[in-house]
Amino acid sequence: MNNFSYYAPTRYIFGKDTEKETGRLASENGMKKVLLTYGGGSVVRSGLLDRVKESLKNAGIEFIEFGGIKPNPTDDRVYEGIDVVRENNIDGLIAVGGGSVIDTAKAIALGALYDGDFWDFYAGKLVAERALPVGVVLTIPAAGSEGSGNSVITKLDGLHKISLRTDSALRPRFAILNPVLTFTLPAFQTASGIADMMAHIMERYFSPTEDVQVTDHLCQGLLRAIIDVAPRVIKNPEDYQARANIMWAGTMAHNGICGCGRVEDWVSHFMEHEISAVYGVTHGAGLTVVYPAFLMFMATHSPSKPAQFARTVFNITETDDAVAARKGAEALRKFFGSLGLPLTFAQLGIENPDISLLVDKLIENKGEIIGGYYRLNRADMTAIYELMK
Ligand code: NZQ
Ligand code: ZN
Repeated sequence: MNNFSYYAPTRYIFGKDTEKETGRLASENGMKKVLLTYGGGSVVRSGLLDRVKESLKNAGIEFIEFGGIKPNPTDDRVYEGIDVVRENNIDGLIAVGGGSVIDTAKAIALGALYDGDFWDFYAGKLVAERALPVGVVLTIPAAGSEGSGNSVITKLDGLHKISLRTDSALRPRFAILNPVLTFTLPAFQTASGIADMMAHIMERYFSPTEDVQVTDHLCQGLLRAIIDVAPRVIKNPEDYQARANIMWAGTMAHNGICGCGRVEDWVSHFMEHEISAVYGVTHGAGLTVVYPAFLMFMATHSPSKPAQFARTVFNITETDDAVAARKGAEALRKFFGSLGLPLTFAQLGIENPDISLLVDKLIENKGEIIGGYYRLNRADMTAIYELMK
């Protein structure tokens, strides 16, 4: 196990009706006037936004609404939000939604305290150390941004989708997790979220670090729990207990606990971020095309960890590593398919993927050689994208 430092100061408030606590929690975190960020309207239609506003009013907290944030959020809304925050002396942000809404709130929170261009942080020119406080009311278990120190924004100029990873500056102060709020999710969004949280675990699991039994078992156990419960939320969207398990799994998957003491991989996310930046697909659905292809490639090039994954997560009994790894990739593919998720570029709606463009952008954004588990060069990246056809 490697040395590590782990600091995850988010307070989680879990269960039915917990959105009523928003005002109290905002107040406890020193907020007096907040930017209330949300997406394209699901929280308006469900009545959630009204309940959050009521809670803020009851706690004497003023707010300005900032809605219409789209999936795969872009830098233009961040610049706009920073201006609103500065013009109105806003001292905190409440994100009501999923990863796209939370990540935009985090970027605004960071940029508002910096005199230069907020993109400097995403471009790696500066380390993010301070931001306005952010609170979250989560509506979709998927990106894990409610517990992560990360924010993913796309720069429209050049379509650069970049994940900024901070130690603690961008971790939300609190995250309200009410599984009932996820009952209204369409099956496709539910399933894409499940794929994304599984990918967050696997990116940490596929690691060259030896003797990390604690995190290996955490990862394997979480994956098995998700696979066990997932069919229930697809079959019955109002199964509270199943929704609750999936919601907590999504947070555990990405708050860093599964990565302690080990080198992480992240190749599949890097590859998917290029697909969703260029073709605008749902992030989790992009990952269901990428991950089995990644595993199929690794079955030939570095099968030991994928074989362990196959045996412990999918009960594959095969003793030969390469064969077990291939069977694991197939089992994962079958599982994603059973949730109604896409398995090829064509099923994602991309008939003629421009693989050389995707690889060029990947190298431009992440470098000539990528990956923590196995070092991939241009030919390897191309081969994995080709396996997705
Ligand atoms: O916009 P509205 O109308 O709210 O609809 C949203 C949106 O269309 C809908 N939705 C959310 N909650 C709902 C609901 N519909 C009905 N009922 C509900 N309760 O779902 C759609 C997707 O929302 P979005 O916020 O985009 O989903 P997600 O949480 O998957 O976030 C995806 C973004 O997060 C990034 C992704 O790349 C992508 O940009 N990620 C962020 C990470 C992080 N900050 O740590 C890590 C991830 O790996 C990921 O890259
Ligand atoms: Zn993800």
